[in-house]
Amino acid sequence: MSGLQAIRYTRGSLEVLDQLRLPHEHHYDNITTSEEAFDCIKSMRVRGAPAIAIVAALAHAVELHNGACKASTTEKTIAYIESRLDYLFESRPTAVDLGNAISHLKTTVRRVVVSGLDGQAAQEKVIEAYIEAAEEIFRKDTETNLSIGEHGAKWVVENATVQSAEGKVAVLTHCNTGSLATSGHGTALGIIRSLHSAGSLSHAFCTETRPYNQGSRLTAFELVYENIPSTLITDSMAGALFATRKQKDHIAAVIVGADRVVRNGDTANKVGTYALAVLAKYHGIKFVVAAPTTSIDLKTETGFGIKIEERKREELTQISGAVVGANGSVDVSKTARVAIADQRVGVWNPAFDVTPAELIDAVVTERGVVEKGPDGRFDFSGVMPERW
Ligand code: MRU
Repeated sequence: MSGLQAIRYTRGSLEVLDQLRLPHEHHYDNITTSEEAFDCIKSMRVRGAPAIAIVAALAHAVELHNGACKASTTEKTIAYIESRLDYLFESRPTAVDLGNAISHLKTTVRRVVVSGLDGQAAQEKVIEAYIEAAEEIFRKDTETNLSIGEHGAKWVVENATVQSAEGKVAVLTHCNTGSLATSGHGTALGIIRSLHSAGSLSHAFCTETRPYNQGSRLTAFELVYENIPSTLITDSMAGALFATRKQKDHIAAVIVGADRVVRNGDTANKVGTYALAVLAKYHGIKFVVAAPTTSIDLKTETGFGIKIEERKREELTQISGAVVGANGSVDVSKTARVAIADQRVGVWNPAFDVTPAELIDAVVTERGVVEKGPDGRFDFSGVMPERW
């Protein structure tokens, strides 16, 4: 397992790696309240659907452990927990993991049996149940990702239409879905890690992922960190890559994560995913979505029901980075925010797009791979756990 950790937690203490400073600086923020977690998520110091849910759940566990709840009855304790979770829910709207985690946590505290206990003991039991459930979300995420990695690597190799003489494949990924977006290993990047450790990966291409550059700042960093042979391209180079290098480099699959997979398989993920799926289809390259079942939303029928977050204009018109010296070395003590467009130009900045199910070949979950049936539709009922 990778040593990269976006989230460090022990009971009563939560530290979150500030991803805005990567790859140049490793700085952990101490998160002690829901407000600090909200700000950390909203400002994208932590990002990625599973990591967002984990940080929100654990931040509230930390404040509860540290005595933030002053409610006088069990009912008021539950109401307090629910109101903090409702507040955290507003931090980012598109990824469903946060909403799923929140409804699971709410159900858990409502189910705690407190009969026979007096006020104080009953309240403590509710708080303990919350903390344990939040910790379990964190713990289970890595196990989930390791399973996704195994299922996905097997599927990609078995379904590759191109491979090297040694049976290896190259893949392309978009955005960041690795250790930094989860509790460890990652989802789409987890499949790439698993392909690599099985000796089945010849090369990983990653897109820069404008406007926030999760690909160049985070995925490229994780690939280099793991010694995975890799190449960075801009988002706009994917078509040229497939057209000129699919056969030569054995590019067998595009593997992406998901912020929300809805009932019919339509998938919201980082903006640019849809364009990659169209290109993959045109070039006969498999298009694979890696999604823990916590990213599947069966309550929403199609992609039209997904709320897409729109972010601020400065993400397109400005960029921040460290100063590069004459010899190419990076001076992390000198960072700058730089204008890269006329600051008065109109801007549209949707953070995600929706890839229609018809462009997706497989959705890899921790409980197996789901492909479309003979009717051309996805059916996730076989992989959905009963828990939530
Ligand atoms: O805006 P971000 O960086 O939170 O977007 C992240 C993505 O789109 C990821 O691909 C998705 O959350 C899956 S992370 C395992």
